[in-house]
Amino acid sequence: MNKKVLLFAGSLRTGSLNKKYVKVAHAILHEITGLDTELVDLADYPMPVYNQDIEDKEFPQPAADLARKVAGVDALVISTPENNGSIAAALKNTVDWLSRPPHNPWPGKCIFLMGASPGALGAVRGLWHSRIPFEALGCHVYPDMSGLPRAHEAFDENGELKDKASRERLAKQLKGFANRIF
Ligand SMILES: Cc1cc2nc3c(=O)[nH]c(=O)nc-3n(C[C@H](O)[C@H](O)[C@H](O)COP(=O)(O)O)c2cc1C
Repeated sequence: MNKKVLLFAGSLRTGSLNKKYVKVAHAILHEITGLDTELVDLADYPMPVYNQDIEDKEFPQPAADLARKVAGVDALVISTPENNGSIAAALKNTVDWLSRPPHNPWPGKCIFLMGASPGALGAVRGLWHSRIPFEALGCHVYPDMSGLPRAHEAFDENGELKDKASRERLAKQLKGFANRIF
């Protein structure tokens, strides 16, 4: 059966550079693989900051809905900002909510991490920290990660990467990842 991949950005904002970057990854996966892919927007799954009092009262429906989606795929491609050199709050909050029993769809998922930032380092410091909760949850995080520096200048008006070499590099990484999904 065809492997399924869910893609999203770890940013909620409308004009997110990471939403643009993960959209490029989605297009590339379509072009170079036969994988069954779905791109979602975390903003469509609004969750409060994790608080066990809220959980004890009523598990947020958006978190349960997204957990079901994650449970239904083999792999995820996530493009996330770096906040103060580390994992973005929206992504960590999502990982934490979904990890709560009886939901927890994370163990065994294959994950490719990417990040876009206006800065010179392309969010890579945040990507290293973003691996940690996924690995703690038993995910298989692909060794290679894709950082996009100067991301505010990287896209044309159609949301395509202006630099051909950057797109080719991402395609090569995604091809490697796609071959390693189990
Ligand atoms: C609280 C905060 C902390 C940030 N820390 C970093 C950082 O450590 N490194 C970095 O490259 N960019 C940092 N930024 C800038 C973000 O990378 C930038 O706003 C980016 O566009 C956010 O991702 P998005 O466009 O997908 O929403 C930070 C932004 C905020 C709001």
